[in-house]
Amino acid sequence: MTNRKSKLLIAIFVLAFLVLSCQNSGSGTNQTQVNSNQSPTVANEIPDRKWWKEAVVYQIYPRSFKDSDGDGIGDLRGITSKLDYIKSLGIDVVWLNPIFASPNDDNGYDISDYEAIMKDFGTMADFDEMLVGMHKRGIKLVLDLVANHSSDEHEWFNQSRSSRGNPYRNYYHWWDEEKGKPAKRWSFFDENADAWKYDETTKSYYLHYFSQKQPDLNWENPQVREEVYKMMRFWFDKGIDGFRMDVITFISKDTRFPELPEKYRGNFVQYYAEGEQRHEYLQEMNREVLSRYDIMTVAEGPGTTTENVLEYVGEDRRELNMSYHFEAIDLGYKDLSKKLIDPNGWSFLEFKKIYSKWDAVFAEKGWGTIYLGNHDQPRMVTRWGNDAPAFRELSSKMLTTFLLTMRSTPYYYFGDELGMTNIRFDNIDDYRDIMTINLHKLIATEGGDLDEFMESQKVVGRDNGRTPFQWDNSPNAGFTTGKPWLKVNPNHTEINAEAQESDENSVLNYFRKIVKFRKENLVLIYGKYTLLDQDNESVYAYTRELNGEKFLILLNFTEKEADTNTGLDIRNAKILLGNYEKPSADGKLKPYEAVILEL
Ligand code: GLC
Repeated sequence: MTNRKSKLLIAIFVLAFLVLSCQNSGSGTNQTQVNSNQSPTVANEIPDRKWWKEAVVYQIYPRSFKDSDGDGIGDLRGITSKLDYIKSLGIDVVWLNPIFASPNDDNGYDISDYEAIMKDFGTMADFDEMLVGMHKRGIKLVLDLVANHSSDEHEWFNQSRSSRGNPYRNYYHWWDEEKGKPAKRWSFFDENADAWKYDETTKSYYLHYFSQKQPDLNWENPQVREEVYKMMRFWFDKGIDGFRMDVITFISKDTRFPELPEKYRGNFVQYYAEGEQRHEYLQEMNREVLSRYDIMTVAEGPGTTTENVLEYVGEDRRELNMSYHFEAIDLGYKDLSKKLIDPNGWSFLEFKKIYSKWDAVFAEKGWGTIYLGNHDQPRMVTRWGNDAPAFRELSSKMLTTFLLTMRSTPYYYFGDELGMTNIRFDNIDDYRDIMTINLHKLIATEGGDLDEFMESQKVVGRDNGRTPFQWDNSPNAGFTTGKPWLKVNPNHTEINAEAQESDENSVLNYFRKIVKFRKENLVLIYGKYTLLDQDNESVYAYTRELNGEKFLILLNFTEKEADTNTGLDIRNAKILLGNYEKPSADGKLKPYEAVILEL
């Protein structure tokens, strides 16, 4: 070969190499790897793919997952010891409820040091080990940002309450007594429902939307915001992959604290969620912190509506990625502020309408979330399915099918993959949740109906979703060798991970199957959603469509057989997945049947 020829060949090789490596490197940090099982034509035609849109989020309540040291409280080493189990679910992201230093008035939602680990949960070294273990397995970690309020034991508050002239005074909201009594603000957790607490030292009231030990931070003070951003950078620099933002819609306040305007009477939540500066602060947070990392954010969004949610999550807004709403989860309440519910007092047609309406919001812009359980809710199967022995497994699987086939990022609550149920305490002394305990006191003081309250708590009390994870049928369900901080559900002898592991048809293995199925079928993530047969009182029917692929999902939400009338010809449809051994192919559904068909 002549010298010129070989030079030419080398040049061609170098060029080809450069072209190939450019193609592989993607266009930015948000590039999502295409799953090798997905059809490449479909995958390449989807605009704006993001890892957090394709993720399944698994929420862990650390206090109740796994105790490694026998003190009866779940901890970080416990989580680390179960990472292979978590990985086996096929989920992508773990969201952990607060793990920071806290006196635990509200189980960690009252933080006394944002850059330290709660003693009950372990040490920073335990955290680092857990994070490495997650990342090694390809699992991302999302932490809880609780910045609307801190603990009253935070050093900022100690300083703030010590004198009116203290440099930290304006970190919180104070109302000096000589101005008279401040205008009424509702507190969710106070035994008198009063969000102002008088503090003797400085003869002033401080504001607490939640318990007296959760004073609200003053976001109107730029120093407070800078402290929050600094703390967020601390965790991002450690490598976490996102934040779920606790009551983030409440951060901005009218610090003149006027009387509640007329239009918000009876709806404090809405008022709290409409502080004027909220978007300014979130945009600032995005500029200062979020935009600098490849992470995900999700707002807990009380007060968000289909009309205003895009102001938080529209891409052009540069605020947050996702938000979760309460419109569907709050169906059935007679009095939400006192948590009084009529378990059957919700309309299934309304339920379908709400989810459809929320899907439509994100048709062009933004991205939604979906959940049926979390640490503030009872167990999914008890509230939305049927936990009677004959239907518990079927309805758990049906609800799981719903969550995993909608066009939103699913947030799936730990234990629901086993079909764990409400514990239904009879005795107020069994409860540990400050919300239940203080509402009980409030209702007693007001001379309200305590029996009705206790019955309601069996349905919606938050501790129902917080009982320890049921690993096996041993005493305390394999959760702890000590005395559990909250009673273990006696049904762990039957409902537990170990028993379900080896049963191919268990709720647990169904969850694994459907998570995998969602990830292999982008149509379930990005496909257009269309509600069918909307007046059907028993069945939720919808299609998902993407680039020529079309899936039909049929879900019977009742314990009776049900017909569907979708108007679609399903004679040649292919059955892809179902929760019965022999799934129905003719649109007639068995009790709590779920079936996914390809048209
Ligand atoms: C959010 C949390 C809840 C907590 C409250 C106060 O609603 O999800 O658990 O009690 O905020 O932080």
